[in-house]
Amino acid sequence: MSEIAERLEEIRSRGLYRRMRMVSGPQGPRVLLDGKPVLLLCSNNYLGLADHPRVREAAAEAAMRWGVGAGASRLVSGTMTIHRRLEERLAELKGTSACVLLGSGYLANAGIVSALAREGDVVFSDRLNHASIVDGCRLAKAETFVYDHCDMEHLEWGLREAGGRGSLIVTDGVFSMDGDIAPLAEIVELARRYDVRVMVDEAHAVGAIGPGGRGSVAAAGLEDEVDVIVGTLGKALGSYGAYACCDAQMAEYLVNTARTLIFSTALPPPVVAAALAALELLVAQPERVEKLQRNAAVLRAALAEEGLGTGGSQTQIVPLVGGGAEETVAACEHALKRGVFAQAIRPPTVPAGTSRLRLAVMASHTAAELRMAARVLAQALPERAAARSAVARGGAGPRVFDGLAEAA
Ligand SMILES: Cc1ncc(COP(=O)(O)O)c(C=O)c1O
Repeated sequence: MSEIAERLEEIRSRGLYRRMRMVSGPQGPRVLLDGKPVLLLCSNNYLGLADHPRVREAAAEAAMRWGVGAGASRLVSGTMTIHRRLEERLAELKGTSACVLLGSGYLANAGIVSALAREGDVVFSDRLNHASIVDGCRLAKAETFVYDHCDMEHLEWGLREAGGRGSLIVTDGVFSMDGDIAPLAEIVELARRYDVRVMVDEAHAVGAIGPGGRGSVAAAGLEDEVDVIVGTLGKALGSYGAYACCDAQMAEYLVNTARTLIFSTALPPPVVAAALAALELLVAQPERVEKLQRNAAVLRAALAEEGLGTGGSQTQIVPLVGGGAEETVAACEHALKRGVFAQAIRPPTVPAGTSRLRLAVMASHTAAELRMAARVLAQALPERAAARSAVARGGAGPRVFDGLAEAA
């Protein structure tokens, strides 16, 4: 057996083998999955904009007008008028004076965290932050303090221990695998007190929470207090790419230091035009956000009626924490056979022992579909999921100073 085959075997033996399933057609509420019709309950196309006719048309028109590629990094020849237009609209939406587009949410987090946290600094990162933030911390030459999930006492302890070396607190706004919301007011208050910057990743918050879907920072009224608001264009906004909203000086700094921006080709014009069209729809049709929130409440209530707890979820991301990797995969397959596709999420995406079905609600689901899904999922998951969902998140971790090795 080759070494790679052995490594694959080891992944399989731990119940962590992954494969890509084939979806035919757009990311609608119902899709053909490996040829079979299913209810799609794990796409981040939250507002149904990825397949909206106006968004598709905008991409097609942009391809004809500007071509399909940007040709180079934004600092070489890649910044085009349409990039600037999208930056202006995003800054308006977020209430900041500047905005910088980046290639994806992953690239944004990796590049910005490593640009802001320099050698000798300490960066503070929530234990359940997305892998792209974890990788940004790894890339940075700074030391990382991983604080327990939303645990402000632990964060403050770390800030004190850092003794003035603290440079950045970074957190998801809405946590990608749990659907809970970061305590931003407390984070900002600690940041002020200890003189560190704050960066919030709105990947799952924009289009989902806050006034008009403007995200978690706007929901908390903290637009002037957060140094960098990162968001992705690839989820609720239905396209691809990412942005950092901040003040003009910070934007200038990121353009000069974020290596994932400097050394990567600019976003393709059709993708940018699609995001612009999606943004217009978000502003013009706030009822999409309201429908998403109503749908999330319908699903959580239906699951509760079936005896399934959903942890701290307050949003369209609804986890059913099962525990073991293999049993979670079995539950996913069980639900699939009954026409519901809810992806099994396992380590390293989530901490060991907290594998889960991560349900993602869309505004385009009907309440009847979500109630049907809850019934199917209740059959797919053993009863103990109900008890575990409530307690499997967070928990008191060890008070170690550099906990990055433990993070996904
Ligand atoms: C919280 C969070 N940040 C960033 C990303 C990465 O964004 P993108 O898909 O645009 O690379 C994700 C995507 O899964 C995410 O969940």
